[in-house]
Amino acid sequence: MYEGEINMVIHADGGEAEVLVYEDRIVMILTDRGPGIADVEKAMQEGYSTAPDNVRSLGFGAGMGLPNMKRYTDDMKIESVVGEGTTITMTVLLA
Ligand SMILES: Nc1ncnc2c1ncn2[C@@H]1O[C@H](COP(=O)(O)OP(=O)(O)O)[C@@H](O)[C@H]1O
Ligand SMILES: [Mg+2]
Repeated sequence: MYEGEINMVIHADGGEAEVLVYEDRIVMILTDRGPGIADVEKAMQEGYSTAPDNVRSLGFGAGMGLPNMKRYTDDMKIESVVGEGTTITMTVLLA
């Protein structure tokens, strides 16, 4: 959640998080109307980041957010349209 939220703040000028808590799973839906992700496969690579210098100087921009979001969830789906925005849906199974 944190990595997804920070991404929306840094890369998309903010967004919305919807968290659905079920008996057997938690579903997190992060939606923004930022620039979108042109090459999702590239963005998923460890260490890849387009964070600008002023953001890096604050300690962000290691390029590990998206890969770690995938690693620590049971399912992650990225839907992104350049110029329109990004929706990331993560599911964590509880059972
Ligand atoms: N919500 C988003 N909107 C637009 N681009 C994004 C978004 N989230 C991630 N990205 C792109 O994917 C790249 C990789 O993200 P991430 O792995 O979290 O690394 P970091 O945030 O440290 O740059 C970012 O540098 C950015 O180019
Ligand atoms: Mg990030």
